Amino acid sequence: MKFVAAIFCAVVLFTGIITVDRNNFKTCEQSSFCRRCRKVEHNNSPFELVPATLNTYSDSITADLVNKNNGHLFVLKVEGVQGDVFRVTIDEKTPLRTRYRVTDALKGPVKPDVIKVTESKTELTVTCGQNKAVIHASPFKIDFYRNEVLFVSANAKGLFKFEHYRTKPEKSEAPAEGEENKETEVPKDDVDNEPGAWEEDFKSHHDSKPNGPEAVALDFTFPQAGVLFGIPEHADSFALKSTLGSEPYRLFNLDVFEFELDNGMALYGSVPVLYGHGTKGTAGVFWMNAAETWVDIYNRNSQKNVLSSIVNMVAGSDNEPLAAHFMSESGIVDAFILLGENPQNTFKQYTDLTGVAPLPQQAALAFHQCRWNYNDEKDVMSVSENFDVHDIPMDTIWLDIEYTDDKKYFTWDSRTFPHPLEMIGNLTARGRHLTIIIDPHIKATNSYYVHNDCVDRNYYTKNKDGNDYDGWCWPGASSYPDLFNPVVRKYLADQYLLENFKTTTNDVFIWNDMNEPSVFNGPEVTMPKDNIHNTEMGTYEHRVVHNLYAHMQTMSTFDGLLRRGENRYRPFILTRGHFSGTQRYAAIWTGDNMAEWTHLQASVKMCLTQAVSGFSFCGSDVGGFFKNPNAELLERWHQAGAFQPFFRAHAHIDTKRREPWLFPENTKLVIRDAIRKRYTYLPFWYVMFYEHERFGYPVMRPLLSHYPHDPETFAIDNQYLLADRLLVHPVAQEGATNVDVYFPRHSATGDGDLWYDIDDYTMIDSVGYVTVPVNSYKIPVFQRGGTIMPKRERVRRASTLMKNDPYTLIVCLDRSQEANGTLYADDEQSYDYRVGKYVYAQIKFTKNVLSSKIIDPSATFDTLAWIERVVIAGLDKAPQSATLKTSSKRITLDVIKNERSYTIRKPAVNIAEEWEIVLNY
Ligand code: NOJ
Repeated sequence: MKFVAAIFCAVVLFTGIITVDRNNFKTCEQSSFCRRCRKVEHNNSPFELVPATLNTYSDSITADLVNKNNGHLFVLKVEGVQGDVFRVTIDEKTPLRTRYRVTDALKGPVKPDVIKVTESKTELTVTCGQNKAVIHASPFKIDFYRNEVLFVSANAKGLFKFEHYRTKPEKSEAPAEGEENKETEVPKDDVDNEPGAWEEDFKSHHDSKPNGPEAVALDFTFPQAGVLFGIPEHADSFALKSTLGSEPYRLFNLDVFEFELDNGMALYGSVPVLYGHGTKGTAGVFWMNAAETWVDIYNRNSQKNVLSSIVNMVAGSDNEPLAAHFMSESGIVDAFILLGENPQNTFKQYTDLTGVAPLPQQAALAFHQCRWNYNDEKDVMSVSENFDVHDIPMDTIWLDIEYTDDKKYFTWDSRTFPHPLEMIGNLTARGRHLTIIIDPHIKATNSYYVHNDCVDRNYYTKNKDGNDYDGWCWPGASSYPDLFNPVVRKYLADQYLLENFKTTTNDVFIWNDMNEPSVFNGPEVTMPKDNIHNTEMGTYEHRVVHNLYAHMQTMSTFDGLLRRGENRYRPFILTRGHFSGTQRYAAIWTGDNMAEWTHLQASVKMCLTQAVSGFSFCGSDVGGFFKNPNAELLERWHQAGAFQPFFRAHAHIDTKRREPWLFPENTKLVIRDAIRKRYTYLPFWYVMFYEHERFGYPVMRPLLSHYPHDPETFAIDNQYLLADRLLVHPVAQEGATNVDVYFPRHSATGDGDLWYDIDDYTMIDSVGYVTVPVNSYKIPVFQRGGTIMPKRERVRRASTLMKNDPYTLIVCLDRSQEANGTLYADDEQSYDYRVGKYVYAQIKFTKNVLSSKIIDPSATFDTLAWIERVVIAGLDKAPQSATLKTSSKRITLDVIKNERSYTIRKPAVNIAEEWEIVLNY
C-alpha cells in the first residue's frame, strides 16, 4: 500500500493530459471546520463586548467578549503597534488547555505604541496616532480608520466564530463523520453535534481529533478597496477572485503533484497576509495563524470578473465592499491591521513585522543550473565546462536527491560522487558554487547515523499514540524530525558544520525541499494532524502548527550555515514550503510547474503575489519542471527568468536533457543572450536587494505600487516593476510577434512617466497600452525616465569573477531633465557590510550635472571597481564635451552621440569616490 502510494507520487507519465488528482485533496465541504465556518449566518453575530470588563493600558485595551449562544467568554485585546498598525487578539478567557500562539513568524517582539481610549454607550474608541479602532459592543465589530477614513472592519459581516475547547463527549454521543444528527439529541451548542467535529475521515485516513472542534474565523471588509490580493501560495491571478459558489482559497502547505492553474487550491507555502487597495488607499490584514486556513473572498459583482468590479467601483455603481473571511482550524485570533494608506507603506508594515529577505551573496542572484539529476561528478564538471565553451555565464550548479547514498541526506553516493571535495574545489576554482538538496525526512534505517541519533535522542515527531511517526517519502520508510523542538533544530543545524559534513565547504549552498512536509502515504500527502510536536510552548498537535514545519526547517538550516561559516558568510537556502517570516532565511520557488506557456505566465503572477507578501526572493523552474519545453518556450522562459529575482533552470528526472547547447544554435544564442543580460544587470539586482533589506519594500512590484490611482493597474499581472526603475513585460505567448505593454498613469487624469526601451533607448511618452514588436531575442523591458541604472557590461563566466569589474551607468531622464539612482557594493559574500564595509552612493542628474555622493560616509569599502561608461538618454540638447571633477582631478571627457543617447567614455573614477560630471554645451 505504502509502496503503491510512493510509486504514484514519484512516477510521472508524460503521455496524455497531466493534471492534479483532486481526489487527494480536501474541498472545504470535506473539511468539517471549513464547512462549519462557512455556514455561519451573515449579519447575526452572537458575540458581544462586555463593557464592564474593560481594562485600559498605555498601549492596549482588553475586554471580555461573550458568545450569547452558549455564554462562553473570550478576551479581546486591541493593541497599538508602532508604524500605523493595530494588533487584535482574541483567545478563550479560561481555556481547557492553552491555545497555541504562533512563534517565529514575527522577526521580533512588536513595538507597542501609545493609545488613548474614549468610551460611549455603544462603542469604545482606541486612538493611536492618526488611526483609530472603533469597537462596537453589540453586535461585536471593530472599524479601523486612518485619518478618519474607514479602511478595514472586522466582523462587519458577523462571521466571527471561535470554537472553545471542550471535553470530548462519550463515544455514543459524538456523531461520526457522515452520521446523521439524531433528532432526539438536544445540541449543546452549534458545534458539539456536528458530524466531523470529534473525528474525521478522509479517504483511508482517520483523524482522531482528541481536542474536538477548535476553529477560529473572522471576516474583514475593505470599504476603500477595488482589488484584494495576497495570501500566497496559489497558482492563480494576482487579484483575488470571488469565491462565491466555488472553493475558498486554501492555505495549507501541501505537495500538490502536477498542480493546476487558476484556482485557489493549497500549494507548498502559506502566507496569510491580504491587502485591499483602491484609489483612496491601501490596507492589509496579517492573520497570524499556522493551522490549516481557508479564505473566502467577497467581491462585488462576484459572478463577474475582477476588471468589471473595478470599473463598477470606480464608477461608484456598487457599494458592497470587498471582504475576506479567514477560517482556521485551530489557534487563536491574532490579526495585524496594516493601515499603510498606500501600497508601498502597507507592504513595508508587513515586512517590518515579519522581516525581509536579507541581502544574498551576489552569486545567489546570478544564474543557477539545476536538474533532477546531474548524474555524477563527470556530468557536473562537463555541464560546468560546457557553459564556458558556449560562453554562457552560470554561477551555481545544483544536485538533486540522487547524489545521496540511498536518499540519506548529509551523505554522498560513493559510486557517482566519490570525490565531492575535489568536485566542489574544481567548481570553486572556476568561480562557481554547488547547491545540494537536504530534505527533512530521514530514512528509517539503522544503517544511518542521523536516524539512529533521532531515535536514541527522541527527536522524531510522534504519532497520536506517542510512537515515532513513520511515513513514506523518497527514501522509502522515513521519519520526520520534530523541528518544533529547538534541540532538534540545533541537532540538524549541527549536521551542516564542516566538522560533521566533512565533504562540503563554505561554498556549498543548500536546498530544503519536501518540507510541507511531504508524506507520500499521509492524508493529503502530508502528516496526520493528530501527530504530536514538542514545541517551545508545550506539546501540540501537528494540526495547530502545520504551516510552520518548513519554516522551522529553514530556521535550523540557516543557523547551521551561519555557524558553519563562523557567522561570516550569508547563507543561501532555497525552500519549497514556507510561512510568514521564512523570507528571513530562504528564497522560494513556485514548485513543480509544467513546461507550458500558461505556467510561464503563472510564474509572474505567483512571484508578484509572493513579493508583496514578504518574499522578494522568488522564481520558478525555468523551462518548466514536468514535460519537455520546445525551443521557443525554453527561450522565452529564460528571458522571463532573467528578470525575476531567483533565476534557476530545473527539470524533472524523466525529462530530456535541456542544457542550452543541446538545442539548435539559434536557441542557444537566444538563451545565452538572456542570461548575459541578467549578468549585466547584477549591480541593479544587488542594490535592489540591499535596499529591500534596508527599507523593506518589495523588489518585484505590481504596477499599483507606484501608480496607486490608476485602476487599470489593479489587476495587471503579466507585467511588473523592478523597484521603481524597470517595467518588465516578459513575452509569455507562443509565437508572439508583439506584446501590448501597459504604461501607467499617475492619477486618474494625470500623465504617465517617460519610459525608455532598454535595448535601444526608444522613448515611450504615452499612457495606456502600446504594442511593442518582439523578435526572438526581445525582452520587453523599459527603464523609467528619472532613474539611473548601475550595470556591469563585461560579462564573465560567473558573477564572483566580476567583483572588481567596472560599471556602466544608464541615465534615463524625466521631463524635467533629471534622474536619480543608487549604487551599492560590498564584498558580495560576507556580513562585513553589516559593520560598515560597503559603498552606497546616490547618483543624481540635475541641471546638466551627474554626481555621485556617498550616502553613508561612515561606511568604507576598498574596491577596484570604477565607472567605465555613462549613457544618457532623453537629453534635450547635445553636449559638446563633459568635465569630470573629483577632489583630486579635473578631466575633460569625450561625449559620443549615439542614435538615441550620448555616451561619456571612461570617466575612470572609483565607485567609492565622490565625483561630478558636468556636461558642456
Ligand atoms: C520535488 C521538488 O519540487 C523538485 O524540484 C525536485 O526535483 C524533486 N522534489 C526531487 O527532489
